[in-house]
Amino acid sequence: MAVSDFELVQAWRQVLELSNLKAGDTVALLTSGDTNAQTLRCAIIAVQEKGAIANRLDLQPTNGALSFSRDPLAYVGKTPLTDNRAAVEMLKASTMVLDLMTLLFSAEQHEILAAGGRILLAVEPPEVLVRMTPTAEDRTRVLAASAKLQAAKTMRVTSAAGTDASFALGDYPMLEEYGFVDAPGRWDHWPSGFLATWSNEGSAEGTIVLAPGDILLPQKSYLSAPVTCHLEKGFVRAIEGGFEAEHLRDYMDSFNDPEVYAVSHIGWGLQHRAHWSVMGFYDREASIGMDPRACAGNFLWSTGPNNEAGGTRDTACHIDIPMRNCTVMLDGVAVVQDGKLLEDQE
Ligand SMILES: [Fe+2]
Repeated sequence: MAVSDFELVQAWRQVLELSNLKAGDTVALLTSGDTNAQTLRCAIIAVQEKGAIANRLDLQPTNGALSFSRDPLAYVGKTPLTDNRAAVEMLKASTMVLDLMTLLFSAEQHEILAAGGRILLAVEPPEVLVRMTPTAEDRTRVLAASAKLQAAKTMRVTSAAGTDASFALGDYPMLEEYGFVDAPGRWDHWPSGFLATWSNEGSAEGTIVLAPGDILLPQKSYLSAPVTCHLEKGFVRAIEGGFEAEHLRDYMDSFNDPEVYAVSHIGWGLQHRAHWSVMGFYDREASIGMDPRACAGNFLWSTGPNNEAGGTRDTACHIDIPMRNCTVMLDGVAVVQDGKLLEDQE
């Protein structure tokens, strides 16, 4: 069901307030062919209401012909900012970038952040944005979990379905997604509410058994049968199962790049307003699937690039895999038990 402009303006107002936007600041609204018109319209109203300057920068889409789908995360290679110095300089000169097109995994994004810019990605449908309007409590919860993850040297994940995998930690930064950008140089994504990091290069080992109901993104499919992924020295070395395993391999192989099989970010969901079942109600092209990514108590792991974390791997294929009913342990202490956030019981 749609939301009103009033509701969406109120949501933007809260996001900009939490992001410390001030009168006189300059906001760049980054748009492209798929930008939601209501989201853009309401963002401009909320920015102007703050007394800030709203500049729209509309960029041409890229990768469309290379991608297997219209999901902006289905091909994460070049972006509309690649070799586009004029656009990069405009964004660097802005206090804040509201990314309504999906600018991810690019050197240019790093450059903007390094210059003190703030980037907030917001591309989910308006009603999803409103349902998961971020709060200060979201930040508190994510940062509390982050302190635990930051102190840990190992993560181990198990499940009754047969998962038993381990990851060495410590070499990469935390990805703390709580939905607003309250500090210079910060990137975030509204809606979100999860925590991740990247395992040390070459350290991911073991077996991950995806169970029926677990989700593949950007495919946006619920698995109907088990898929077993064998991890060795930081890479997925084999994917076994039925049709869905074959489909996954076919997609990954199509990139013709061994790096697509590297293990990327690992972490868990902390957002109670995100729901595992939501994806089943949406057309695949209507959403990028933040509900399953952020859903409280999931184990979210992924494959592909690590340049977002300052690594050198910039492969164009990125699969996010939210799993249910897993136990996630940090140095032997569970933070998620059988798919339930343990902090909820504290
Ligand atoms: Fe991801």
